[in-house]
Amino acid sequence: MRSGKDSIVCHCYCRCPHVILGCSVGASLNGFEEMVEFLPASDTKKVEKMSPKTKLLIAGLVLGALLLSLTVGLLVWHFAYRNVPVQKVYTGYLRVTNYPFINAYENPSSAEFADLSSKVVEMLQKTYQTSPAIGPHFVQCNVTAFSEGSVISYYWSEFSVPTYLEANLDAAMSDLKVQTVTLRQRGALYVDSFVAYSTDPQMARTFRDNKCMFFLHATDGAATKFSSPGFPNAPYPPNSRCQWALRADASHMIVLHFKTFKLESCKASKGDYVNVYDSLTAVEPRIMIKLCGTYPPSYNLTFISSQNVMFVTLVSDDREKHPGFKAEFSQIPRTTLCGGTIRDANGVISSVFFQVPEDKFVKVRFQMFYLYEPGVSITSCPNDYVEINNVRYCGERAPFVVSNNSSKMMVKFRSDQAYVDTGFTAQYLSYEPKNPCPGQFTCKSGRCIDKGRKCDGWNDCGDSSDEVGCVCSDKQFRCKTSQYCKPRFFLCDGVNDCGDGTDEQDCKCPDAFLKCRNGKCVPEAQKCDNTDNCGDGTDESDCGSAKPTDCTAYTYKCQNGQCLNKLNPECDSVADCTDGSDETFCDCGKRPYSRKTRIVGGVNADIGEWPWQVSLQTKKDGHTCGASLVSPTILLCAAHCFQDTSGIRYSDPSVWTAYLGLHDQATRTTSKDVVIRKIKRIAAHKQFNDFTYDNDISVLELESPVTYTDFIQPICIPESTHVFPVGKSIWVTGWGAVTEGGVGAAVLQKAEIRIINQTECNKLLDGQLTSRMICAGYVSGGIDACQGDSGGPLSSVEANGKVYLAGVVSWGEGCARRNKPGIYTKVTEMRDWIKQNAGL
Ligand code: ARG
Repeated sequence: MRSGKDSIVCHCYCRCPHVILGCSVGASLNGFEEMVEFLPASDTKKVEKMSPKTKLLIAGLVLGALLLSLTVGLLVWHFAYRNVPVQKVYTGYLRVTNYPFINAYENPSSAEFADLSSKVVEMLQKTYQTSPAIGPHFVQCNVTAFSEGSVISYYWSEFSVPTYLEANLDAAMSDLKVQTVTLRQRGALYVDSFVAYSTDPQMARTFRDNKCMFFLHATDGAATKFSSPGFPNAPYPPNSRCQWALRADASHMIVLHFKTFKLESCKASKGDYVNVYDSLTAVEPRIMIKLCGTYPPSYNLTFISSQNVMFVTLVSDDREKHPGFKAEFSQIPRTTLCGGTIRDANGVISSVFFQVPEDKFVKVRFQMFYLYEPGVSITSCPNDYVEINNVRYCGERAPFVVSNNSSKMMVKFRSDQAYVDTGFTAQYLSYEPKNPCPGQFTCKSGRCIDKGRKCDGWNDCGDSSDEVGCVCSDKQFRCKTSQYCKPRFFLCDGVNDCGDGTDEQDCKCPDAFLKCRNGKCVPEAQKCDNTDNCGDGTDESDCGSAKPTDCTAYTYKCQNGQCLNKLNPECDSVADCTDGSDETFCDCGKRPYSRKTRIVGGVNADIGEWPWQVSLQTKKDGHTCGASLVSPTILLCAAHCFQDTSGIRYSDPSVWTAYLGLHDQATRTTSKDVVIRKIKRIAAHKQFNDFTYDNDISVLELESPVTYTDFIQPICIPESTHVFPVGKSIWVTGWGAVTEGGVGAAVLQKAEIRIINQTECNKLLDGQLTSRMICAGYVSGGIDACQGDSGGPLSSVEANGKVYLAGVVSWGEGCARRNKPGIYTKVTEMRDWIKQNAGL
């Protein structure tokens, strides 16, 4: 129904809720001007016949009934809810200053413990009785532990309070906290610093139930181990509340390290979690970290206490089952470095005042810097920070240098009580005031970099001082905003290298034209018209829809022969092929340790980060090539790894052993995560050209299949039509040489590189590329694969979250040289060959 004024107001009875819904929309249009009543048709007659008197009577009765139900409701609410007592538990600690700490206080069943704790309990009870908002609700309190200083007493107090007085109790309890003066000399105790925090009652249950409460004291020299209940044979129990009170000797700190951590994945609310407290009880402000989910073993889960105590809690809900955690802790003497003075020429520090010989200047190089706190500004650094010359540094930072034009430097390190991070390591150095970087370029910050890195278009100094005021060479162009000189072939490569788009500005095609991946411009109208106008399929491969089209070299081919013009349709969780074949072989490219981790101290990979990486070894040479696992029995590798030389018949499968699940070469025979297999068959590409390295690919068959684990997983093989766009960041991994001509790495290395435009790369490599090769790396040099990485994967993390094998490490001119990116076998070009030779 519609009124003439565009306003609809419905007067509805509760019997027609569907009408009420409609009303709210209309009513919000224009206000209440016309009443439209919906009445049940059967009632119409009755309503018409009613006298005014009857109407009044009915109205009176309705009103009376309403009042009655309101009163009943209020009473029910008052008695049933408002007055319902809730259980409140506070945990806290207080400091007793007139008792010295004795070892017996560590043992809750000692007479000394009982004596002091009864005094503390009495003092608490008396204190609570002084407050009318607290006293009447008090139920009981108990002391759980003591620690040094003089004696810190940890306790919990339980209250039973009507809901409506809960807030009053909270306020009164937090007031008590600050009234430290009035508490002094109460009972026979001198008490200062008295704190109490409301605790999750779920957690508080365990205060009375010691079933899952553990008291551990660090032993000298050896680490003390503990783990979640049942670990590793059974999952930890549901709905459990476990606690570990960790102690060290006086004047020591605790170093806690989680060796395995596999809990239910982190959820926004609830879920299973472990808390670590810098205290002997679970008080919120002393929380160091809350952990949930799964961490790869290489993730640095190490925490250091500020005093000689630490508290760990495990809370689990009723869902899912997970293995739990394994941890160990040990004690280290409390450091006294803070505020010290160091007078040697060089050294490693934590946080101090430096003075180098008078005739030298001092600088500090931070190698590792992790002072991160979630949600805290890294510009103002209000909580934990390092301060040098009134500048604060915090957050997670790449290595950096701070220098002083003097022989003295004050480095202040401040950390507050809440949240901890790994910290930092730094090195202080003295330098000649006149020649800070002998043979190198001196950045404004004092950092020394290789001279060749000046004016190369890369901010090597970190403060851009190596890139300002440069004259660009004829191989470079100048970015507008930064004024950096960058390599010319960054122009129009589809990647915003300058940051302000200068390098991509004049590359656009005219309006109504489409830009092909090869740079060509074609009319928009030619897009998806079943003709490859670009010449590289760009205009025909990405038509958004998965509508069947004519098959071309750029369309995706389903198993039933149907062709689609959707870009990378494999495993995107949409069945595009009518036979669903685009979603069938998707059990690949997964990393059980999916958490994003820091690259700590360089380019060591994390354990389990590249579970398809294989090390191929021979008896004579040890590790020789990398390879990628693609099925339980098949590895993909380079062909050049199996070329016979005068000494060894590398083409003979029996000389090779494959190591899967390997991280550190030093543990290849001892690590339980490593699986070793002999090779049964080697199929190197017949057209491999050992002069040009064209067709550098091979398939290896393992003697027996491997079982997939957290550390062993297959990588996805891309279809021939899969597009890895230029500029995409991609990862290369291996145990190859860490410098050109150098020795191999023990720990698997990873490097993030970028796919480089084929035509431009070919120019840099004097036309040596074929269409079966793909270029990736950095023109600035510095990051690349090298000898020993051959055969290994070029891993691309795709939009569907899976990792695809974009390339196989093949060759390069030297390693990591400027203008000489690495060359990889293009797997998409080898798709049919792989099918024929591996059946995959
Ligand atoms: N051919 C080398 C090997 O056998 C790999 C070379 C890769 N070089 C490069 N600069 N990306 O290990």
